[in-house]
Amino acid sequence: MSRTSFVMLILLSTLSALIASEHKDAKEMFDEAACMRCHNDNSFQVRKERIDNFEKLYSSVQACARNTHAGWFEEDMHKVSRYLNHEYYKMPQPPAMEE
Ligand code: HEC
Repeated sequence: MSRTSFVMLILLSTLSALIASEHKDAKEMFDEAACMRCHNDNSFQVRKERIDNFEKLYSSVQACARNTHAGWFEEDMHKVSRYLNHEYYKMPQPPAMEE
């Protein structure tokens, strides 16, 4: 392996670790709130035609978080929306909220 490709490899793995950690909190919150009691991997994808922008996704997350008394703050719901978008919807999204 050349030195350049070695450096590239290190950079890439650091980057993917960063991306994984960005969504780690959100994933934990999501798992704790037991959102998957009612949802499954498909239900998020199947309804992609209805949720066609990040705002709609965010409002659905807000609605469900309130209904289920998840006790999330705005930035938690924002984080979870970004996580779900990353996992399922893959739509353009605004940057993370300041913490
Ligand atoms: C008690 C069952 C239930 C639980 C628990 C639940 N949801 Fe939902 N969720 C629903 C239903 C029903 C809908 C569809 C609402 C509608 O048609 O407007 C929905 C819709 C959604 C959508 C939009 C899905 C789409 O693509 O159309 C998202 C995103 C979502 N919920 C996120 C969450 C999150 C995050 C949690 C955990 C805090 C959660 N839900 C927990 C019942 C639930």
